[in-house]
Amino acid sequence: MNIREHYSLRALNTFGLEVKARYFCTLATLGGLRTVWQWQQQHPNLPVLFLGGGSNMLFVEDFPGLVVQIKLMERTIIGSDSEYTYVKAGAGENWHQFVRWTIDQGLAGLENLSLIPGTVGAAPMQNIGAYGVELKDHAYEVFAVDWKTAEMRHFSVAECGFGYRNSRFKSLEPNRWLIASVTFQLPTKPTWHLDYAGVKEHIQGEVNARSISDAIIAIRQSKLPDPAQLGNAGSFFKNPMISDEHYQALREQYPQLNGWILEEGVKVSAGWLIDHCGWKGKRIGDAGTYDQHALVLVNHGQATGAQIWQLALDIMDSVEQRFGIRLVPEPHIISGGALVQYS
Ligand code: EPU
Repeated sequence: MNIREHYSLRALNTFGLEVKARYFCTLATLGGLRTVWQWQQQHPNLPVLFLGGGSNMLFVEDFPGLVVQIKLMERTIIGSDSEYTYVKAGAGENWHQFVRWTIDQGLAGLENLSLIPGTVGAAPMQNIGAYGVELKDHAYEVFAVDWKTAEMRHFSVAECGFGYRNSRFKSLEPNRWLIASVTFQLPTKPTWHLDYAGVKEHIQGEVNARSISDAIIAIRQSKLPDPAQLGNAGSFFKNPMISDEHYQALREQYPQLNGWILEEGVKVSAGWLIDHCGWKGKRIGDAGTYDQHALVLVNHGQATGAQIWQLALDIMDSVEQRFGIRLVPEPHIISGGALVQYS
């Protein structure tokens, strides 16, 4: 195991923050995991953080422990039955390249999740979702390593506790499970999800997995900043759920506020709330919100994690004062070597 010290994570977090890991190593085989695990037994006071593509993470400051970059690579078609083809992907695979590879194999199901930044291993953490599809809709099982014991375990989809941008790995047992691979079940007879605003309009020619994927890529590129050009972690807040009464009261004052009525309450658009507090395109030093989409916080170059986090807290306060809704951040916020927890 090659452990580096004071390692810059700038290229390993999509905010492009200049933060350092006290210790850093990569993990390319499951065999190497035991060595990393033993290292931690010898350094019980140092936190360990597993990193995928760093696309859903905000480092508020330098990380005082060991950062392990997961590079477990695999793409295998395991088999098929009358309903599904089963495909396994290693945690270190780039998510978007994996999605395009499934399409190249003639498989469908993941096309609406095209161009989401990050790795396969990070995808179940927050049950990634976009344009009417979530990872849980096509996941079959997750293979993970228990960091308490270094033992491996399979989780069926039901055991993963998937919810809106959430899973057992993210909130119920944070830092316990290292995701090693995910197996998907991709339907032989796919159902296309074209209802999200703008998707149909962007499809060129015949409707199939590739043309939908191309349409999603075009939509995302027009709305969301490319982290390679402008540091960001996608949506910075979850769309909040409020009660029916709260929604009705807000609608009287703000008739333009849209809501999606669900069983548990009404989901409203965090982007709209932030926009209507006047934050869209605002910039404080190098920390700001994207001028095309208020839900995306951006690093214009030299912002620190603490400045981005301060901006996020200011946005949360102003949305709360105006609408009575406390926004919840979507990415992992890493401060003092630990995850800042939100429900
Ligand atoms: N809106 C504004 N102002 C803004 C931005 C949005 O008023 O500055 C309003 C618009 O009315 C728009 C509505 O918000 O119609 C919804 O915006 P959008 O369609 O962009 O979707 P979103 O709810 O903001 C969610 C996901 C995205 C995902 C899209 C498409 C969350 C937190 N975000 O965004 O996921 O790509 O839907 O499915 O659920 C991500 O998780 O990083 C991410 C980008």
